[in-house]
Amino acid sequence: MKRIVVLASGQGTNLEAILEAVERGEVAGRVVMVVSDRADAPALKRAGKRGIKALFMNPKDFKDRFDYDRALIKEIITAQADLVVLAGFMRLLSPLFIEAFPMQIMNIHPSILPAFPGTDGVEQAFNYGVKVTGCTVHFVDEGLDSGPVILQETVPVIQQDTIDTLHQRIHATEHRLFPTAIDLFCRDKLKVEGRRCYIVD
Ligand code: GRF
Repeated sequence: MKRIVVLASGQGTNLEAILEAVERGEVAGRVVMVVSDRADAPALKRAGKRGIKALFMNPKDFKDRFDYDRALIKEIITAQADLVVLAGFMRLLSPLFIEAFPMQIMNIHPSILPAFPGTDGVEQAFNYGVKVTGCTVHFVDEGLDSGPVILQETVPVIQQDTIDTLHQRIHATEHRLFPTAIDLFCRDKLKVEGRRCYIVD
């Protein structure tokens, strides 16, 4: 069983979807710790409720982001994590952090990368007027939403959409796609060669 640490700043609906998938036996791993940079993040409550270690790391307690990341690395190593999952973690991670866990950090982004990276991926796509968008699970490298793509799923933009309705449908897609990608990792089915991530038997 692989050990998963989830970093989340917000609502944590993706975390919830991952925890439920784990409970249904659909992910060959378990979440051993959830870390947030926000004391009031619902994500922490979702973990606490299930008896999973929920750790608030206050950025104000650290000199700079390198100091923060060093402490975070220590926590993750202590938790003996195999995989770090970014589920709406709103902090930019330093190269120090990325190098500590090469091809062991996964992120979900609400667009079909490389289109619309950065914050507001849904809004950017909506305002551009695309007819199709979606979400991407990828490994994290030192760039902005630029690591090897693991899985992608498209979501059509319909005429009646607002940013909100589009966001909701993308979110629902994320809740399926993220646990699937995590399970593939946990079953050692992902092999990265350069930019390509292969799913192997
Ligand atoms: C998701 O939309 C994801 O694409 C982005 O952050 C959001 C997290 O949402 N990276 P939630 O906290 O899991 O509801």
